[in-house]
Amino acid sequence: MITSTLKILSEADKEACELVKVSEEELTVDKKRLFIESYGCQMNFSDSEIVAAVMRNANFATTSTEDNADVIFLNTCAIRDNAEQKVRNRLQYLNNLKKKRPGLIIGVLGCMAERLKTKLLDEEKMVDIVAGPDAYRDLPRLVEEAETGQKAVNVFLSREETYADISPIRLNSNGITAYISIMRGCDNMCSFCVVPYTRGRERSRDPFSIVEEARLLFADGYKEVTLLGQNVDSYKWNPSPVGRGDASPSLTGEGFRVGFAQLLEMVALIDPDLRVRFSTSHPKDITDDVLWTMKKYENICNYIHFPAQSGNSRVLKIMNRTYDREWYIQKIDRIREILGDECGISTDMITGFCTETEEEHQDTLSLMEYVKYDYAYMFAYSERPGTPAAKKFKDDIPEDVKKRRLQEVIDVQRRHSGERNQMSLGKVYKVLVEGPSKRSDADLCGRNDQNKVVVFPRENYKKGDYVHVLVTECSSATLIGKAVEQVIA
Ligand code: SAH
Ligand code: SF4
Ligand code: F3S
Repeated sequence: MITSTLKILSEADKEACELVKVSEEELTVDKKRLFIESYGCQMNFSDSEIVAAVMRNANFATTSTEDNADVIFLNTCAIRDNAEQKVRNRLQYLNNLKKKRPGLIIGVLGCMAERLKTKLLDEEKMVDIVAGPDAYRDLPRLVEEAETGQKAVNVFLSREETYADISPIRLNSNGITAYISIMRGCDNMCSFCVVPYTRGRERSRDPFSIVEEARLLFADGYKEVTLLGQNVDSYKWNPSPVGRGDASPSLTGEGFRVGFAQLLEMVALIDPDLRVRFSTSHPKDITDDVLWTMKKYENICNYIHFPAQSGNSRVLKIMNRTYDREWYIQKIDRIREILGDECGISTDMITGFCTETEEEHQDTLSLMEYVKYDYAYMFAYSERPGTPAAKKFKDDIPEDVKKRRLQEVIDVQRRHSGERNQMSLGKVYKVLVEGPSKRSDADLCGRNDQNKVVVFPRENYKKGDYVHVLVTECSSATLIGKAVEQVIA
C-alpha cells in the first residue's frame, strides 16, 4: 500500500481542516519510487498531480517519504526571493542525503527551474534534472538520461501545452476537493512579477476536457472543484482547424467560443451537488457575465479572490496592473450590487513597491477600509531579476519600511477578517465537510460558500456531507457552530 502524498509547503496555506489522505492501492512490485514536494501556488500543486500521472506511465509509483525514494522532485516557486531560499535550503539537505545514497536522482521542476535554467546546475551541483512547467511530458526521458549520470535539462516553454489529455493523480487529497487547471501561463506583465517568464504565454485548455475531468471527479465522490488560472477571466477557447484541443466537429464551427462565464456554467451544470470555485480573477478582466453566472447557480461559490496589489493609482500604474483605484472600487461595488454583501472577497497586497510613498501606502490601507476583505495574502515587495520593475525602477524602499507597512496592512486585515466573521454570527451556512478539525476529532471542519472555514461537532455527519451549520462563535480565522436541521432564513 502506498499513500500518495505531497508535502504542503504553500506560503499562504490557511487551511484549518486536518487533511485526511486518501490512500491508493498501487502495485509497487517492479516500480520505482517518486517523492514529489511542492512549493508555491495552487497551480504548482496541480502540476505535481500531472507530473505524478506522467511518471506513473513510466513505471513510477509516488511515495509519501523521501526515505525510500529513487527520485525526488521539488516543484518550485520563484515568486519572491524567500520562496527560492526555502528551496535552496531544502536542496542543501538533499545534498547530504545524496552523499549517503549516490543513486538518488534529484530534479528541480517548476518556476525556479524555468527562471534559472542551467544556472541552477552550476549553483546546485547535486541537481540532476531541471525541468520547466511545460516540459513534464519529457520527465521520463530526463530521468533516464540522469540515470546514465548525465545532467538533464528541458526548459522549453510552449505556446500550446495544456496537458489536457492527462488525468492527474490526486496527491495528498481529502477525496472531496480538487483543483483543475483551466489555463496556463500569463500575458499580463505586471511589472513586479516573474510568472510570465516562468510559465510563458497564456493559453486556455479545451473546455470539454475540463468538464470531463470535473465529471469524473464528481463520479469519484469529489464534491468541489476549483478552476485554476493566473487570470481566469481571460479564459477563452476558440476551436480552429489547427486549434488547441480536439473538440467534436459539430462544436468547431464559426462563432463557437467559450469564455470564462460559459465555462463556469458548463461546470456548474454537471450536478447541483458539485461546488465550483475559481481563482484568480484579475480586476481588469472580470465581467458582469461572470458575476451573473455566479448568481444564477447556487453551486458556484459566492467568493472571489480579487487581488488589488495596491490602493494607489500611481503605484498601480507602475505595477502595470492596467486599472486604477477608481476602476477597482467600481468593480467591488458591482460585485456587491450583483452578489450582495455576503459575497466573500479576498485580495493580494504588496507593500513597499518601488517609490511607494507613505501617503500611497495609506491609500492601500484606505482601500482595505473601503472593501473590508474577508481575507488577504500580504507580501513585502521582493525584487525579481529580469522583471520590468527590476529593469526600470530602483528597489528603493528600505526593508524595515516595507516590513512596517506590511505589518500595518496585516493588522488592518486581521481586524476586518474578525469583523466580517462577526457578521456571520447567528446565520446558517451550507458547509461542505472536508474532514475532522485540526484541533479535535470530535469536530468536523469544512467551508461555507464564501470560503470560510467552519468547525462544528461531528454528531453523525461525515466527510463529503453538506451540512447546515448555525454559527454561534467566531475568531478572525474560523467560524464555530452547530448543525441544524433546516436553513433559518
Ligand atoms: N495571477 C495572480 C497572482 C499570482 S502571484 C494575480 O494577478 O493576482 C501571487 C501574488 O504574489 C501576487 O498577487 C502578488 O501579490 C504577489 N507577488 C508577485 N510578485 C511579487 C513580488 N515580486 N514581490 C512580492 N509579492 C509578489
Ligand atoms: Fe503575475 Fe500579473 Fe500575471 Fe498575476 S496577472 S501572474 S501578478 S503577471
Ligand atoms: Fe510561484 Fe510559479 Fe505559482 S512562481 S506562485 S509557483 S506560478
